[in-house]
Amino acid sequence: MLENRKILLCVSGGIAVYKAVALVSKLSQAGASVKVIMTESAQQFVQPLTFQVMSRNDVYTDTFDEKDSSVIAHIDLADWADLIIVAPGTANVIGKLANGIGDDMVTTTLLAATAPIWIAPAMNVHMYDHPAVKRNIQQLHEDGIRFIEPSEGFLACGYVGKGRLEEPEKITELVKNYFTREHKLNGKKVVVTAGPTRERIDPVRFLTNFSSGKMGYAMAEAAAEMGAETILISGPVSLPVPSGVTRIQVESAEDMLKAVEAHFDTANYVVKTAAVADYRPQTIANQKVKKQEGGSTIELERTVDILKHLGQQKKNQVLIGFAAETNDVCKYAKEKLIRKNADYIIANDVSEAQAGFESDTNRVTVFGKNNFEQAFDMMPKQQLARQLFEMITDKEESYDS
Ligand code: CTP
Repeated sequence: MLENRKILLCVSGGIAVYKAVALVSKLSQAGASVKVIMTESAQQFVQPLTFQVMSRNDVYTDTFDEKDSSVIAHIDLADWADLIIVAPGTANVIGKLANGIGDDMVTTTLLAATAPIWIAPAMNVHMYDHPAVKRNIQQLHEDGIRFIEPSEGFLACGYVGKGRLEEPEKITELVKNYFTREHKLNGKKVVVTAGPTRERIDPVRFLTNFSSGKMGYAMAEAAAEMGAETILISGPVSLPVPSGVTRIQVESAEDMLKAVEAHFDTANYVVKTAAVADYRPQTIANQKVKKQEGGSTIELERTVDILKHLGQQKKNQVLIGFAAETNDVCKYAKEKLIRKNADYIIANDVSEAQAGFESDTNRVTVFGKNNFEQAFDMMPKQQLARQLFEMITDKEESYDS
């Protein structure tokens, strides 16, 4: 499955280095060509020879030990790779990369890389929780680097918690998924909207909703992984920008409309995951509204229904809406499909446990033209996002052919 794929594995120094050996073996068995770079501390745990034998390639350990005088090794390796994996990723290597430090073969290569970089952290649970490490991870997220979350369990230091390097089988699976999904949206532009909007009342107050943005960010991540140029138009949420995604931050429904319109003509897919406010205060007070005796009323006016507006203008764009409902999910979703002239409505019952706004999981049913209907099981939002794009791109291909 990984035939002709070139994977560069950067190994930094933690006890989980032994798992990196297994990872090289799994990736090679799947057909990938693997080259390995080790930090000095990684070599305290395992000899480069082990990786050399497993990968059947030279192992690189020193920026100044140029094996081939016709090239500069750290640039050459960075250019060679289709995908770079840092496993185990220590707090040290994460910190260096987040701050642009290149002081060894691993970090200079990472700085020179244009291929996607995935980091699989492994460290003590308290180190993983340290504010500095969290800050660095956040920074790298924003720089477009993808993380393979460590799992929970017994750690070599004796603690139980989060910090175990993800299993080599699982990482190999992610790599296989990445390369098989890749290219399906190559050359396509996907615009995703996510999160809530804020409609101002006065300088200190606004109307909003419980949308966390998680489903929209997962949709953007999946689109980018499948090769799309991905624009994520996001209301105010505190989520990291997924790898390879361009984020435009907006506040109100009006801002979101403008941002979407700017990209609509050139878009192939528009995914409206955002929970857009249907109403906004008729006037925004310039100064803080002071309380008075008795009740108070805020006059509201309708915002533009962005999805409906796009539905009226669309040419070849595939329009995907979401419908968050608390009752009669199927009936309302089908109505929205027609009323908004969307190609698909992805409906979920937000009153169901683990399928709501804040949740990391979701269960949806997709409705489309010609009475198309497909239900998906409850699953993590990221996994669901990939399956949704796979289903929709397959369906659109079948319409084209
Ligand atoms: N939507 C939009 N602009 C709005 C309101 C909603 O683009 N002003 C989009 C959402 O992004 C979503 C779809 O319409 O993709 C359905 O949103 P939802 O809030 O479920 O439906 P509404 O149209 O607001 O209908 P209702 O309030 O009757 O449920």
